[in-house]
Amino acid sequence: MSSIGAVQKDGGMADKGGFPHYMIKEIFEQPKSLYATITPRVAAEEDSVHLEDVHIKPEELQALRRINIVASGTSRHAGMVGQYMIQELAGVPVDVDYASEFGYRNPLIGPGELTVVITQSGETADTTAAQREAKSKGSRTIAISNVVDSTIAREADGVIYTHAGPEISIASTKAFTAQMAALFLFAVHLGHARGKVSTERVNTYIHELLEVPGKVETVLRSSSDCQRLAEEYFSMEDFLFLGRAIHYPIAMDGALKLKEVSYIHAEGYPTGETKHGPNALIDETLPVVILATCDRKDEGSVRRYEMSVSNIKGFKKQSGRVIAIASEGDDEIGSLADNIVFVPQAPELLTPILEIVPLQLFAYYMATKKGLDVDRPRNLVKSVMRE
Ligand code: BG6
Repeated sequence: MSSIGAVQKDGGMADKGGFPHYMIKEIFEQPKSLYATITPRVAAEEDSVHLEDVHIKPEELQALRRINIVASGTSRHAGMVGQYMIQELAGVPVDVDYASEFGYRNPLIGPGELTVVITQSGETADTTAAQREAKSKGSRTIAISNVVDSTIAREADGVIYTHAGPEISIASTKAFTAQMAALFLFAVHLGHARGKVSTERVNTYIHELLEVPGKVETVLRSSSDCQRLAEEYFSMEDFLFLGRAIHYPIAMDGALKLKEVSYIHAEGYPTGETKHGPNALIDETLPVVILATCDRKDEGSVRRYEMSVSNIKGFKKQSGRVIAIASEGDDEIGSLADNIVFVPQAPELLTPILEIVPLQLFAYYMATKKGLDVDRPRNLVKSVMRE
């Protein structure tokens, strides 16, 4: 079975391919898994997105009033990124819910609403229950899953398979970036169906998306920098991960990765929220990892970047230690942050796929430095199939 592609339900254990752990192998597989997820959906002339298993007619997509995204863990972080992509490109309001909370809020779902459930395994009990609840209230459903014919994929009206291949490590990495690529494809497809995205813009977006796997390859070449970061910060017991807007979900996932595999406490927070509390914590004992990338062509991104620069200056005044993820060519943050990892320039909506990679690597190296079982962290399972 090819290691890259949608996983067959009876898919056996992949091998480690010469890597010491599945997690690091799967981190390094991301250029391939992204490419495998993107290329079957973009026509050769790159002017249209084909989502072969979605089975929802254009007129239904045009009539959509709202989209609810429901997922668990890392998959919910992908949904939070997808919210920005879909609202920006398709102009449809999007809500994102924890699958484990979805039922409690008695979701007021009606016809004309679409529920997108995101799940690597396609078997997570909370997410299965959420999809069933949404269907019982009249919502159409689309599953984004990595496993063909999984329970959730089978029960959905439409499916977008990520072609990440078997993800063995409990901490989700390549499935996560593939989910974000799938959500971007869906957002472009939906925007085009609703007349919000022109054919020439579709072409531009597809071209930009096809550049992402190569850019991830570039980020992976900084893995030794992330290993050195782990050497330097390995004794720290608490971290604060910060990001604004579409980068906030990446801060959340960077914190989750560190917690899951190294057992070090970490919190993901919106950067702008630090002044409402967390600032009281920031000093030399609480390192801050801040997403401070900038898409120079996007004025909102530039404005947010400038605010993050000022946040970094503030943290340094509190003798905080700052690790910044920044965009190549940035010659300002290097003199402000204590450590910096660069990612290639990319459009704002696609940068999250790049900036999670150094955070995955950092978590991995922190865990291996502690001699922990990276692929099988204590108390966790790959897919929680029952409460
Ligand atoms: C958790 C995993 O158990 O389930 C996470 O440790 C994952 O990595 C979450 O994100 C959701 O799983 P799935 O298969 O529904 O995406």
